[in-house]
Formats: sequence, C-alpha cells, structure tokens
Amino acid sequence: MRSFKYLMCSGLLAAAISPVMADDGEKIYTKGGDQPGALACITCHMADGKGMDAGGFPNIAGYSAGYLAKQVHDFKKGTRQNPIMMPIATALTEAEIDAVSKYMASLDKPEVPEITRAKTPEGLGEKLAIRGDWSRSIPECVACHGPSGVGVGEAFPPLAGQGSNYLATQLRAWQQGTRKNDQNDLMGHIARSLTEEEITAVAAYFAGLGK
Ligand code: HEC
Ligand code: HEC
Repeated sequence: MRSFKYLMCSGLLAAAISPVMADDGEKIYTKGGDQPGALACITCHMADGKGMDAGGFPNIAGYSAGYLAKQVHDFKKGTRQNPIMMPIATALTEAEIDAVSKYMASLDKPEVPEITRAKTPEGLGEKLAIRGDWSRSIPECVACHGPSGVGVGEAFPPLAGQGSNYLATQLRAWQQGTRKNDQNDLMGHIARSLTEEEITAVAAYFAGLGK
C-alpha cells in the first residue's frame, strides 16, 4: 500500500513537473503549443528555420538555445516589443519554451566564410563590422559577435546569414526603445550611435555573409 501510494505520488509529480518532453520541441515548432495562442513557429520561421526576411520573419537557425529562450522570455516580459511575437511568447509555457528553443538550436546554421580582422575593410558595412568607429566609441561588431559575426556562446547571437531587413529593424528598435533587453545597454548604446546609412550598410554586410 505504501509503495503504491509512493508510485502514485511520484507519477503525479513527474506529470506535473514535465508535461512537455524535450523531444516535443519539433512538435511545438511544426504544430504549435498547447494553448491556442502558441501558433506553429514553422509558419513564419519556415521548416529550415531560415525565416523570410521580406516578411520580417528572422532566421532562428544557428542561434544557441539559451539566446532563443531569452528572447521568448523578453517578449513575454515586454522588454522586447513586437505585436506578432508577444502574444505567441505569452501563450508558451516554460517547458514549451525550453523544448522549442532546443529544437530551433538543432537546425542547420548558415555557412559563413572566415573573414579576419587583418583584412582591409571594403565599404562602410565591413568597416563597422571589423574596425568599428572608435572616434565615436563604436566597437567593431565582431568583438562581441565573433569572427565573421558567427556568434559567441549563449549571450552573443550570430549576425551572419540573418536577413538584412530584420537586422536593420532590430537596430532601429534599440534606437526607438522598443527593444531594451540587452545587458548594460550594450547594444542600445551602439545602435543609438549609428546613422541610418550605417545601419543599412552593416545589416546588408552581415546578411550577405551567410547562406
Ligand atoms: C506569425 C508569424 C510568427 C510565428 C507563427 C512565430 N514567430 Fe517568432 N518571430 C516573428 C517575427 C516577426 C519576429 C521578429 C520580431 C522583431 O522584429 O522583434 C520573430 C522573432 C522570434 C525570435 C527572436 C529571434 C532573434 O534572432 O532574436 C524568436 C526566438 C522566435 N521568434 C521564436 C518563435 C517561436 C518559438 C515560435 C513558435 C512557438 C514563433 N517564433 C512563431 C514571427 C513569428
Ligand atoms: C559589447 C558587445 C557587443 C558589440 C560590440 C556589438 N554587439 Fe550586437 N549584440 C550584443 C548582445 C549582448 C546582443 C544580444 C542582446 C539580447 O540579449 O537580446 C546583441 C544583439 C544584436 C542584434 C540582434 C540580433 C538578433 O538576432 O535579434 C543585432 C542586429 C546586433 N547585435 C548588431 C550589432 C552590430 C551591427 C554591431 C556593430 C556595429 C554590434 N551588434 C556590436 C552585444 C554586442
């Protein structure tokens, strides 16, 4: 009797703690989460995760699970504002966020050529990317985003191969204060220092690096 009770309890506990299994990530991505607002990610981020830049839908392949989960939480909290993603993020449970982020991180990342900082920059975009503009306290993007902008660890996302329209939109979001989810205003400071011409150039540069 005692062991039966124990089994009942541990079974219920397990069910309460983990209603979503890790391999449900693909299911959430392709069919959506349990709540009706948790729309299927595949509709906008596409089967290969590469998104559709013309529609403003970012590539999510090649990002770390930690960065992706943080973004979903930020949409939930409102430190990152977007009318499409905020209700979707709100409708996802913690376990669903964890599972779908791991699935997205497993998708094939874009191929990116290796560009060293020793290269003489060609054009405004590449100059900002590998040299920055220290006269205006703008560090080179690769200092945090890694060589060729492939991303570093969980905190610094890749930029190479992301859509140019989306990259520019994010920089403008930091300028306008609708995205303020970065530690110590690292990106906010940089984005506010960039001119519109520089935003377009550096966004096109990183977008052109990966396919
Ligand atoms: C109806 C279209 C749509 C659907 C469905 C959708 N997304 Fe998004 N997603 C977007 C848009 C648009 C953005 C860019 C928002 C912005 O500009 O800040 C985005 C951004 C994101 C980002 C941030 C990416 C980055 O590089 O920072 C993550 C993470 C994300 N979505 C996860 C998901 C997940 C998980 C699902 C499914 C549960 C999902 N999305 C479903 C449209 C969608
Ligand atoms: C001091 C470090 C640092 C430098 C230098 C830096 N970034 Fe970032 N960047 C970050 C961090 C951290 C994030 C992620 C913030 C978050 O958690 O959402 C980020 C995110 C971004 C994003 C959003 C990516 C996405 O998927 O939504 C863009 C676009 C971006 N950076 C562009 C640039 C550009 C262009 C430069 C160079 C002009 C640059 N960054 C230089 C730290 C940096």
